[in-house]
Amino acid sequence: MRIDIITVLPELVESPFSASILKRAQEKGLVEIHLHNLRDYSEKKFKQVDDYAYGGGAGMVMSIVPFSKCIEQLKSERSYDEIIFMTPDGVRLNQQIANNLSLKGNIMILAGHYKGIDQRIRDHYVTLEISIGDYVLSGGELPAAVLSDAIIRLLPGVLNDETSALSDSFQDNLLAPPVYTRPADFKGLKVPEILRSGDDKKIEEWRHEQAMERTLARRPDLLKNNSSE
Ligand code: ADE
Repeated sequence: MRIDIITVLPELVESPFSASILKRAQEKGLVEIHLHNLRDYSEKKFKQVDDYAYGGGAGMVMSIVPFSKCIEQLKSERSYDEIIFMTPDGVRLNQQIANNLSLKGNIMILAGHYKGIDQRIRDHYVTLEISIGDYVLSGGELPAAVLSDAIIRLLPGVLNDETSALSDSFQDNLLAPPVYTRPADFKGLKVPEILRSGDDKKIEEWRHEQAMERTLARRPDLLKNNSSE
């Protein structure tokens, strides 16, 4: 899989990809991440990428000119399955969307400033608009990194134990059950006996019960989604 991210602040997006799972995924050749600095595509003398808003009003608007140049350049090199714009007024990211995107070959992510991006970019180039939640961040850079992480960890071979992405919270519309490690008794705080019983069937049942209880207590809306399918 290949992910191209277009941004004026590549340094804001860089660090999550330089450590741990996301770094190893690239080293193993399972994903390629390419960051493109929008300023490199500016035709202006001082590399500006925004301009005054037509009709007046406060704030600058990111221009279609450098975005178009960068997007057209990338599209001439390969085809893209989705061109995604990160914005709080997009469809809210969930596990299902991450699962679907993890099956794609090439995706492009535009990180901009949602009040200030020329609408023609959204109308003409963008195929999917995604929000990472009902709050406003300063730009689309951190949301682009969040989306990329959610996708990349699902690619086969990225996690050591391939089943571990499947047992994540949300994969069955259920939250994950509690987990424990040694010591079995920490100052009187004990690990549930059943997990030490060696009875795999009982353990599986216990985990499912715990997942149901946790989901019912914290996210009953997820169980409603289950029954309506
Ligand atoms: N840009 C600013 N806030 C955002 C959000 N919540 N989701 C996606 N992109 C954004």
